[in-house]
Amino acid sequence: VQLDVSDFLRQHIRTVPDWPSTGVQFRDITPLLQDPRVFRVLIDAFVHRYMAPGLRPDVVAGLDARGFIIGAVVAYELNVGFVPIRKKGKLPFTTVAETYELEYGSATVELHTDAISNGQKVLLIDDLIATGGTMIAGIKLLERLGGIVTECAVIVDLPELGGSAKLAQTGKPLFKLVEFD
Ligand code: PRP
Ligand code: ADE
Repeated sequence: VQLDVSDFLRQHIRTVPDWPSTGVQFRDITPLLQDPRVFRVLIDAFVHRYMAPGLRPDVVAGLDARGFIIGAVVAYELNVGFVPIRKKGKLPFTTVAETYELEYGSATVELHTDAISNGQKVLLIDDLIATGGTMIAGIKLLERLGGIVTECAVIVDLPELGGSAKLAQTGKPLFKLVEFD
């Protein structure tokens, strides 16, 4: 019996109960990276989609921190550049910043002002979308610099947390490999 890519990947995501706080089921993607056979299936799933002429971006942007791991490898395979969107205070050059609300408090992400040029088609990658705050802040940063976010991509969508629905309202397509309720 042939296993579908989504089911195959799902079997290699570890769920850690009550981390980082009680009641959270943390979806840990590190086992996907650890096994070279699984890592290749994961990366190839993205590369296969974004190699298609109509979907090939000019640049890949990745969200701190796990979006860097996936995004950088996908960019390399597509032969396009990679730009990091980092948590506040990490980027040394001039930046643009976006603050967004978390369940408790807020967070800020930053992007170098020269990271994107006007009209560039950007693929925005992270490991996971939950409430969508991180992804939507990333889109805003990229578009403030004149980038066109053609699609967002994640390994995991947690639809119950509402992020993918919120993203859909912005009109940005989301490509996801695995969903967890
Ligand atoms: C996780 C995940 C996403 C974000 C998604 O990162 O890697 O970046 O949360 O949540 P949201 O959709 O509710 O914004 P985390 O904040 O754990 O940071 P880390 O990558 O530095 O561990
Ligand atoms: N980020 C927000 N919620 C998460 C979860 N349940 N697992 C992994 N990363 C997350």
